[in-house]
Amino acid sequence: MKRQQLFIISLVALGLSGCDQSSKGFSLPPGDIAQGELVFKDMQCLSCHTMEGYERPEGDWELSVALGGKGTSLKTYGELVTSVINPSHRLAKVDDMSAIQVDGKSVMPVYNNLMSVSELVDLVTFLESKYELVAYEPTNYSIHH
Ligand code: HEC
Repeated sequence: MKRQQLFIISLVALGLSGCDQSSKGFSLPPGDIAQGELVFKDMQCLSCHTMEGYERPEGDWELSVALGGKGTSLKTYGELVTSVINPSHRLAKVDDMSAIQVDGKSVMPVYNNLMSVSELVDLVTFLESKYELVAYEPTNYSIHH
């Protein structure tokens, strides 16, 4: 068998054996909670969200999607990151779904062009500290058979 074919077959095998761990290999570097809190405040996340211990700015807010705490639909680190960089991927579970999405698209703005990766990393580290999430595990890249 040619080398190339072998390579493709082993890729397929890896893909099959790893399909229940599709977020393996994904991990952001450690961030800074205090910096993340600044990002959280600067980006005005509290204009749509509530979080225990944080006052909302003055205003007449239409949305109050709670962040942090126990018993949310966010269970893993991967889900938390996804909910920030790709808000429509999976919508939060709230009583009035009509308030949070239009045609399945989250009303949460996409910040990807407004935030640096470092800001994102710090923000996620800050948010993570407010949840009880399953932590990500750094991937060991050696291939097991
Ligand atoms: C204009 C309103 C708005 C702003 C501003 C906003 N969000 Fe959201 N966010 C939402 C809505 C609505 C949802 C629920 C729908 C969804 O899951 O995307 C949500 C969901 C989330 C979730 C997932 C919650 C869950 O339990 O699934 C996280 C985490 C989150 N937002 C973080 C942030 C952060 C961090 C910021 C600031 C950088 C922010 N949001 C700014 C509206 C907003």
